[in-house]
Amino acid sequence: MSASIHLARARRILLQQTSQFNSNILRYFSMSLVQNKGLVLGIYEPKEKDGQFIFTPATAQYNESIGGKLETVLKTAGRKLKTGKSRLLYGVDGNYSAIAVANLGKLDAGYDELEQLDQGKENIRTAVASAVLSLRDVGETQIYVEPCGDAEAAAEGSALSLFSYDELKQEDKRKPAVDVLIYTAGNNDESAVRLNWSRGLTLAEGQNFARRLKETPANLMTPTIFCEEITKNISKLPKCTVTVRDQAWAESMKMGSFLSVTRGSEEPPKFLEIDYQGGKPEDPPVVFVGKGITFDSGGISIKPASDMDKMRADMGGAACVASSIQVAAILGIPINVKGLIPLCENLPSGKATKPGDVVRAMNGKTIQVDNTDAEGRLVLADALCYAETFQPRLILDIATLTGAVVVALGGVATAAYTKSQNIWEKLNKAGAVTGDRVWRMPLFKYYTSQMTDADLADLNNIGKKRQAGSCTAAAFLQEFVKTDQWVHLDMAGVMSNTDEVPYLGKGMSGRPTRTLVQFLENLSQEKS
Ligand code: BES
Ligand code: ZN
Ligand code: ZN
Repeated sequence: MSASIHLARARRILLQQTSQFNSNILRYFSMSLVQNKGLVLGIYEPKEKDGQFIFTPATAQYNESIGGKLETVLKTAGRKLKTGKSRLLYGVDGNYSAIAVANLGKLDAGYDELEQLDQGKENIRTAVASAVLSLRDVGETQIYVEPCGDAEAAAEGSALSLFSYDELKQEDKRKPAVDVLIYTAGNNDESAVRLNWSRGLTLAEGQNFARRLKETPANLMTPTIFCEEITKNISKLPKCTVTVRDQAWAESMKMGSFLSVTRGSEEPPKFLEIDYQGGKPEDPPVVFVGKGITFDSGGISIKPASDMDKMRADMGGAACVASSIQVAAILGIPINVKGLIPLCENLPSGKATKPGDVVRAMNGKTIQVDNTDAEGRLVLADALCYAETFQPRLILDIATLTGAVVVALGGVATAAYTKSQNIWEKLNKAGAVTGDRVWRMPLFKYYTSQMTDADLADLNNIGKKRQAGSCTAAAFLQEFVKTDQWVHLDMAGVMSNTDEVPYLGKGMSGRPTRTLVQFLENLSQEKS
């Protein structure tokens, strides 16, 4: 008998016979009917070894409401429960079919200088994610989560861990849909808790949007489809406008560098512009530029076949730009932001750009394309020149730019290149709050000299040596910006997740979307 038929029958029997049943029997039936409803409760590590777990206000109140049973059960069930992990408890009371206790670590965990992050928040994301996933795995479809001391972080851990990209699979192969809801009992300031919870959900959903854009196969996420998706999702938001430019427009802007990348592809290139006017009309905009290569085969300098499919996410910079502006608009951050996204495929063909070809960028500089796989910098070069025409407050570009940064930093942090100490500090602070960190890298003149010594042109698109590939790429981009208020983020290392972030699971990460939003928030609090 299937579970649903079983449940329907139990309900029928219950309805027919209620009047004859005494209250004990009724309680038994109601227990069997609350299946699929789970609760996440936070606990902190004991102060001393072999001491007792410390309860959050919600957990303490819950424990009291069931006559201290949780405390008793935890004495044995809580053994060896590590920080960031959770344990399922059954039959604790009749209102929930399972309870997951989540170990939030030390009660006073805060900013960790060496780790450069707020360890307390990160513990909450990790422990709540573990608890929510355990409850989902035992079939709960309605999961209540207490704030665990920070409702925003709890919401992030919940919604980020539940993401899965399975829309192209048959329904029975997809992960079950789960509702996560805030549990407010035991917390005094309910409205503040709800506000923080919903902010956390918005941030996580923004990151999940970037994950979906990146996971989608390249045949279903062409430049045209990317523009349609963004128009559908962002143009409806308050104070937002989306403009889609075509190849003819890019030609009229003399974007010869960008256009050299699309030559091998049959898909029309696009240049997407997203505007969010959350600030005063006279405030100069923050300009975000995102690399939008919807598939990077390497072109004529073709990549090896293994893992080439991952290059469907070579529009990760574009996805982060779009999703962070979307979140900024939903949260109503008081700032003006412009997103510029050059989109195309990088493919080999009889028309494709060849190693040694020379192209001219919008600022008149010529570039010798010695390696067609170093295409990200070519599309960004023109987008950066265009960004400068808006007299921006600052320019931030973000790209899955180099394999070299994967070697340097792995999946732990996004590399940041900037001359501006102020920009660096604001970004670093943002990463510490979100747990999605950035790490500063150098813009030494030596790297520039590696790029400006070309046989045929002003610049070469690859360095003379193979060393420091992420640094030389940054030095190349610097040739296309005049302002010092510029930061380049090489996010190739954080493009996908294996085990670096415990609350993300395997696959495209959507990082560092939440850090970009937090950065905008930090900027909005400073006078421009
Ligand atoms: N999209 C790649 C970089 C990349 C590698 C992103 C791995 C994510 C994971 C980029 O276009 C590229 O191929 N860069 C080359 C540059 C080289 C030819 C100078 C690289 O890093 O190998
Ligand atoms: Zn490439
Ligand atoms: Zn690329």
